Amino acid sequence: MNAVLAQIRNLRVNLGGRSILNGIDADLLRNKITALIGLNGSGKTTLLRALIRECPFQGEVKFFCGHDHSHHRPEHIGYVPQRLSLDARLPLTVREFFALALQRRPLFLGVSAKVAKRAAELLARVGAGHLLNRPVAKLSGGEMQRVLLSLALEPQPELLLLDEPAAGIDFADQAPFYDLLGRINRERQVTILIVSHDLSVVSEHAHHVLCLQNGTIVCQGPPGDVLTQEAISRTFGAGKKVYAHLHDDGTACDHNHSHGHGHSHGH
Ligand SMILES: Nc1ncnc2c1ncn2[C@@H]1O[C@H](COP(=O)(O)OP(=O)(O)O)[C@@H](O)[C@H]1O
Ligand SMILES: [Mg+2]
Repeated sequence: MNAVLAQIRNLRVNLGGRSILNGIDADLLRNKITALIGLNGSGKTTLLRALIRECPFQGEVKFFCGHDHSHHRPEHIGYVPQRLSLDARLPLTVREFFALALQRRPLFLGVSAKVAKRAAELLARVGAGHLLNRPVAKLSGGEMQRVLLSLALEPQPELLLLDEPAAGIDFADQAPFYDLLGRINRERQVTILIVSHDLSVVSEHAHHVLCLQNGTIVCQGPPGDVLTQEAISRTFGAGKKVYAHLHDDGTACDHNHSHGHGHSHGH
C-alpha cells in the first residue's frame, strides 16, 4: 500500500517572466487532508492550478491511482476555486447549473428527470438539498461553496483541491463546513489538499501541512510539528506578529477573527 497519492518533485512555474514556484517538493498523502499555508502571493493558487494542469509547469507531478496504484494520471481531480464571481443576472437555477455540468443534451431542452434527481442527491450529500431551485447567482458565499463542492465530488475524485473555501463563508458557518470536509475525507476516502489561512482549522482538521514561502516549501509535516512559532515565523516572516491566535507554545486556539476574504496576516 503506497501511502502517497501524489508526488510533486522540483515543480517550477514561471508566469509573466517571473519565477512563481521554484522547485516544489511535496507529497500528498492518500486519504488524508493536507493543508497548504503561506502568505498572499506565495504561490498557493498557482500550485493548485499546476496540479489541475491549468498552468504550465516544469518538473514532475506523479500520481499513484487505481486499485493497484499503478495509474500515474488521475481520472478526476475536484477543484473548488478561491472565488467564483457570477453575474448576478445569470438566469440559472442551481438545478440548471448542475444540468450544464452533468447532462449532455442542451439546456434549452430542459433538465432531464435523471439529472434533476442526481443533482438533488449530490446536493443532499453536502447538506444543501434545499438549494435546488434557487437562482445560482443569488446564493450566499457559503451556499455557493457547497454547490461547487458537490459538483467537485462528482464523479468521485482521486484528489479534491479547495482554495480558501471558507473565505466567502460567514464565521458561524465555517465550522460546519470544515466538519463536512472532514466527514467527506473519512467516509468517502477522498484525499484533500486545502488552502487555508486559519491555523486553528489547520491544526484541527489537517493531517499534513505544507508551508509555502515565495514559491518554496519551507517546511512540511504533521500539524503538531509544523505549527510551531518558529516554523510559522519562517513561513510568514520573522519579526512579524503573524497570528495573534497562536499561543506562545505554538498551539492554535479558537480566535474569532474577521471573516471574509483577504483578512490580513499582520494583525
Ligand atoms: N497569470 C499570471 N501572470 C503573472 N503573474 C501571476 C499570474 N498568476 C499569479 N501570478 C503571480 O504569482 C504570485 C503567486 O500568486 P498566487 O499563486 O495567486 O498566490 P497565493 O494564492 O498564494 O496568494 C503572485 O505574485 C501573483 O501576482
Ligand atoms: Mg490564492
